[in-house]
Amino acid sequence: MISRTPPMGFNTWNTFGEDINESVIKETADAMVKKGLLEAGYNYLVIDDCWSERERDPVTCRIIPDHIKFPNGMKAVSDYVHSKGLKFGMYSCAGTRTCADYPGSFDHEFLDAETFAEYGADFLKYDYCYRPAHHHGDLLYRKMGMALKACGREILFSACNWGCDDVHKWIRSTGAHMYRSTGDINDSFVSMKDICFSQIENLAFSAPGCFNDIDMLTIGMYGKGNVGSTGCDDTDYKTQFAVWCMYSAPLMLGGDIRTFSDKTLALVTNKDLIRINQDEEARTAFVTQSCIDRDSNGENIYSASRDKKKVFVKLLSDNEIAVLFANFDDKERKIEFFFEDAGIPAASGYGLDMREVFTGEKLGVKKEFMTRVIPAHDCECFICRLSK
Ligand code: GLA
Repeated sequence: MISRTPPMGFNTWNTFGEDINESVIKETADAMVKKGLLEAGYNYLVIDDCWSERERDPVTCRIIPDHIKFPNGMKAVSDYVHSKGLKFGMYSCAGTRTCADYPGSFDHEFLDAETFAEYGADFLKYDYCYRPAHHHGDLLYRKMGMALKACGREILFSACNWGCDDVHKWIRSTGAHMYRSTGDINDSFVSMKDICFSQIENLAFSAPGCFNDIDMLTIGMYGKGNVGSTGCDDTDYKTQFAVWCMYSAPLMLGGDIRTFSDKTLALVTNKDLIRINQDEEARTAFVTQSCIDRDSNGENIYSASRDKKKVFVKLLSDNEIAVLFANFDDKERKIEFFFEDAGIPAASGYGLDMREVFTGEKLGVKKEFMTRVIPAHDCECFICRLSK
């Protein structure tokens, strides 16, 4: 059965774009095992766009792998990935062509699902470019959802329509296990922040069986690769990972795993953060509303700075609670947290016994109100228990 927690793995697009081939996939598979990523839960290795020939086979009508990039065919690649204990993912598109102009699955959904099953695929990312006019997205995703059910293999269905057509309202009914809710990420703090903010209102639609996918992570890219952009630093990546974990978002690595440093590996295998992300109840994180500033008279005022700093709270199973203080501003900020906003009034006598997940620092029991001074782009994330 497909796991009911957010999928984890690697996808080729962010780093490699069209420069994919059998060696890159095999080396990535090797690195995922050797560097402990499989052990940490990253089990899907997904090949994104640009894997096929430009046209279907004129006789069989099937999509065929690029004979230069994949000279031994796709089953051989899939067998290698499986031999490492990983699962294998493929990519196609609901339109007539993929976003990079290779054959899409429109009107060939059942044939393509059979082809992917023959490759031994366990995952299908399904994009949204070149959609013929008058064909609604819900029907297109429903067709591939049915085709995957019919193909004789259990294949995780990863929809990718970038949040169009209010996708969160209907995608679960198509059989999709995750759905992209945003445009493409690039490797910059601004891109990460925009994506994060864009989904605050939609977090409640994500739940076991079908998760809100806020795109592949850029952690470890440092501006290199296919979606390089300005690049991020380690602080930016730390906050990125914490947000993805608090959102119960799929954790699909997009950096070049073969070159991941120990620091990058330590971040993406942080046990507490993965536990927050993989919590079986997959509860929505909520944002507390009372980030305040003081005006010149020392009075508390609500201010625009609320958009620069956020406190996210996520209830976990086993009575644990995760709290993330995230500073999205380009300068240091004091971030306030009123416990009442999280449903813990002072009169209850309860507070939170808090442990920071990046440093291991124990704060002990905090009550009523607290502030943390967080450097630019940085965050602190606590796992807590209610306590008197
Ligand atoms: C779209 C998707 C990306 C990637 C590219 C491939 O832009 O959103 O994640 O799959 O297509 O062309």
